[in-house]
Amino acid sequence: MTTIKPAPPGHLPFDATFRATFRDLVLWRRDVRRFRRDPVPEELLDNLIELATHGPSVGLSQPWRFVKVKSPQRRQIVCESFAAANDDALREYEGTQRANYASLKLAGLKEAPVHLAVFADESTTTGSGLGRQTMPETLRYSVVAAVQTLWLAARAEGLGMGWVSILDPIAVTRALDVPADWTLVAYLDLGWPAEEHLDPELERHHWEARHYTGDLVFER
Ligand SMILES: Cc1cc2nc3c(=O)[nH]c(=O)nc-3n(C[C@H](O)[C@H](O)[C@H](O)COP(=O)(O)O)c2cc1C
Repeated sequence: MTTIKPAPPGHLPFDATFRATFRDLVLWRRDVRRFRRDPVPEELLDNLIELATHGPSVGLSQPWRFVKVKSPQRRQIVCESFAAANDDALREYEGTQRANYASLKLAGLKEAPVHLAVFADESTTTGSGLGRQTMPETLRYSVVAAVQTLWLAARAEGLGMGWVSILDPIAVTRALDVPADWTLVAYLDLGWPAEEHLDPELERHHWEARHYTGDLVFER
């Protein structure tokens, strides 16, 4: 793992150029489902995971657990789970929406060189329960925060990442042989993207439109 020293206080490069670049990073992050098959260096993946662990976590509980899914057999089970769940999902739609759903590519599991499962360790005592007495779900939210950091960090490296939730979490968790107290939060596929887009695929394929931010902000 490469250790890059953080900038000292007073020298943080968070200037206007950085802010514009950061905005570009956020806008150009995509859920990627089309990957080239060339490998991702292990050290790069490790560095991304390490960066993700600097995300916020309730009570500093750091409940994230990352599983690099390398076994072809286990990957195959995940691919089969996706295929079955996707077929089931398709049956929930009708008419043109069903045809549109069927035309969408909703995972790149077969092509992606990296499969990464991210769990929340529900039994962790790290943080001594601080912040989650009344909202225990914040443990999982903390894992989501790490995933988002990973997503942006991957994009900054030119690496694409997709989040696949069209899966049976019980089957996937069983296939990965992890401790019973771990809850699957995210199943991610990563690799070099075959294409780049500024707009979400689901928007491009008229599945859903982006909301105007002004409609999402309220005052009370
Ligand atoms: C929790 C979560 C689960 C998702 N699961 C899937 C999935 O199973 N398949 C898929 O194609 N995209 C999945 N996505 C990606 C979303 O479809 C995508 O983020 C959204 O359409 C916006 O596109 P963008 O990420 O390119 O901006 C998921 C995203 C999130 C946050």
